[in-house]
Amino acid sequence: MTTLVVADVAGQSWDARDYAKNGRFVADLAESLVEWLAPQAGERILDLGCGDGALTEKLSASGARVVGIDASVELVAAARERGVDARLADAQALTFANEFDAVFSNAALHWMKRDPDGVLLSVARALKPGGRFVAEMGAAGNIAAIRGAIHDAMARRGYDAAQADPWFFPTLADYRRRLQAAGFDVVAIESFPRPTLLPGDISGWLRTFAQAFLAIVPEGERAALIAEVQGSLHERLANTVGQWTADYVRLRFVAVKKAR
Ligand code: BEZ
Repeated sequence: MTTLVVADVAGQSWDARDYAKNGRFVADLAESLVEWLAPQAGERILDLGCGDGALTEKLSASGARVVGIDASVELVAAARERGVDARLADAQALTFANEFDAVFSNAALHWMKRDPDGVLLSVARALKPGGRFVAEMGAAGNIAAIRGAIHDAMARRGYDAAQADPWFFPTLADYRRRLQAAGFDVVAIESFPRPTLLPGDISGWLRTFAQAFLAIVPEGERAALIAEVQGSLHERLANTVGQWTADYVRLRFVAVKKAR
């Protein structure tokens, strides 16, 4: 596998090996979301923000014909290595029309900050009338401690973290309104805390998921910044045996494209 790292539309860069090491839990924790989707053999399903394809592969095991899209060249290459039909695409400008029975998305919509309503219109266009959109993303308050510690550490060093911040974590009420405005009936929507045990300490998480912030800091300063963020979070997120738990809050929904 290559070690090519590229910046995607959110300013975030992805390294497939780092993602496999520090982000495997993202797909592992999505089992109940897949149950909400209940993929059926023969259905055509779009996995929006498929990452390295670990979950796309699981959806395909149902016999559904699954296409994955992602904005990261590196992750699309990793997904293709698994045999996934993965394509490089910007979710804010999809060209699919009335062709999918379902669109699925796990832990991806919060990276699409530039035009969240454009994403929803793209998804609505891609679905057949009556097709379902089943997704989970970060909700308002997601990783509040981690995000706050990054912002504080960067401010102390004179960097504008707000400008680099790649994340969009809406409230339930806000996102329901956006779904309805894009032409969906919202069948179910909920928000819930999901404290998430990390596979290592917070530094691996930061190196994998906080690239957009690290990218505006000179390379020689990054390790010190990560150590500073880690130090400030230790009391809140690490236990006495050194296990780290991230303060995730999820927003999960099923929405159906109106048959006009
Ligand atoms: C999330 O899945 O909520 C998430 C993961 C990495 C960075 C930000 C949010």
